[in-house]
Amino acid sequence: MTTTSEFKPGLEGVPATLSSISYVDGQKGLLEYRGISIEQLAEQSTFLETSYLLIWGKLPTKDELADFEHEIRYHRRIKYRIRDMMKCFPETGHPMDALQTSAAALGLFYSRRALDNPDYIRQAVVRLLAKIPTMVAAFKLMRKGNDPVQPRDDLDYSANFLYMLSEKEPDPLAAHVFDVCLTLHAEHTINASTFSAMVTASTLTDPYAVIASAVGTLAGPLHGGANEEVLEMLEEIGSVENVRPYLDNLMEKKAKIMGFGHRVYKVKDPRATILQNLAEQLFEKFGSDQYYQVAVELEKVVQERLGHKGIYANVDFYSGLVYRKLGIPSDLFTPIFAIARVAGWLAHWKEQLVKNRIYRPTQIYTGNHAETYIPIHERN
Ligand code: ACO
Repeated sequence: MTTTSEFKPGLEGVPATLSSISYVDGQKGLLEYRGISIEQLAEQSTFLETSYLLIWGKLPTKDELADFEHEIRYHRRIKYRIRDMMKCFPETGHPMDALQTSAAALGLFYSRRALDNPDYIRQAVVRLLAKIPTMVAAFKLMRKGNDPVQPRDDLDYSANFLYMLSEKEPDPLAAHVFDVCLTLHAEHTINASTFSAMVTASTLTDPYAVIASAVGTLAGPLHGGANEEVLEMLEEIGSVENVRPYLDNLMEKKAKIMGFGHRVYKVKDPRATILQNLAEQLFEKFGSDQYYQVAVELEKVVQERLGHKGIYANVDFYSGLVYRKLGIPSDLFTPIFAIARVAGWLAHWKEQLVKNRIYRPTQIYTGNHAETYIPIHERN
């Protein structure tokens, strides 16, 4: 029988799978995708090439990458019926809810559960990677009553997404920085949303349901939703001078500081270092952000005060500043995280199918036994 001493809240430290997709060393601040460091991928790869690496387990040849990119370009458009459905969403709804609903809706249109057919797997991968950005951009415009912008086949993945958001062809540095952001967010071992994807996948349901369930999990403020809250916090702090008093107040209330802390990293998240560098590149070209110095000071002071507990900046701390400089509204930050993480979720979906066993953990029952049913008219 399972005992309470075996219970690990949040399943902390409990291995849930065998996986060869990514690796994190939280003490060294190391992240690898299929054995390649995130620094090399950020510097030398593209998001689509990295997605291929994650999903198929090897770097593609030139031809394989060209075919993959071509298929994704070809599948970027979404069905009119999905656009019509999205038009009915309330304009005040959060884009993550819109994305979760639209991702699930894809499952209505594409034949279900041919999970032993490699063509079905490939098509699902391509459709999800291709259509999720289009759905995010479409909701951004449709909630204002505008028609969505059609994808442009002459633009690559990231440039096309930024174009669909703003109807303007993006600056090459902006498109490059955005593409690196996607690479940085593409995968991160068994985090909450990936685990959610794996649990859903283990029932052998369709991949659109797998991604929809992961999107729903990513939406929470303790996971993907934190970068939106980081910017709100920086605005609330307002000035470098206010950093210490603001932090004193938060710590007195024992409140969490958004963008800091991580279940695995006990040093600065390597992605935060790369993102900070990308933010600086953007500020150099397009002008600084008034809250950047507030962020730098906050990071310094949090490190002073909470570094001994292993609390350092995580991936969400600088990503909001980068996205804002790219002109992206803050409630799209988490959907953009989802666009990137689709690659990792799909890699885990594929890996799960190979060695599938339905997830069915156990529990430690803490309720009563042999209670008597009391008819409603006899209850107080
Ligand atoms: N600010 C202040 N204290 C913190 C923070 C923080 N951001 N994070 C952890 N701590 C403290 C806790 O209060 C706790 O202190 P105690 O031991 O004195 O009680 C200790 O560090 C351990 O914290 P837990 O919450 O138990 O750590 P856990 O591993 O469960 O949480 C999490 C990790 C959820 C990310 C947490 O650090 C947090 O809430 N951070 C803020 C939200 C955030 O930035 N989320 C994005 C994470 S990255 C991602 O999902 C992409």
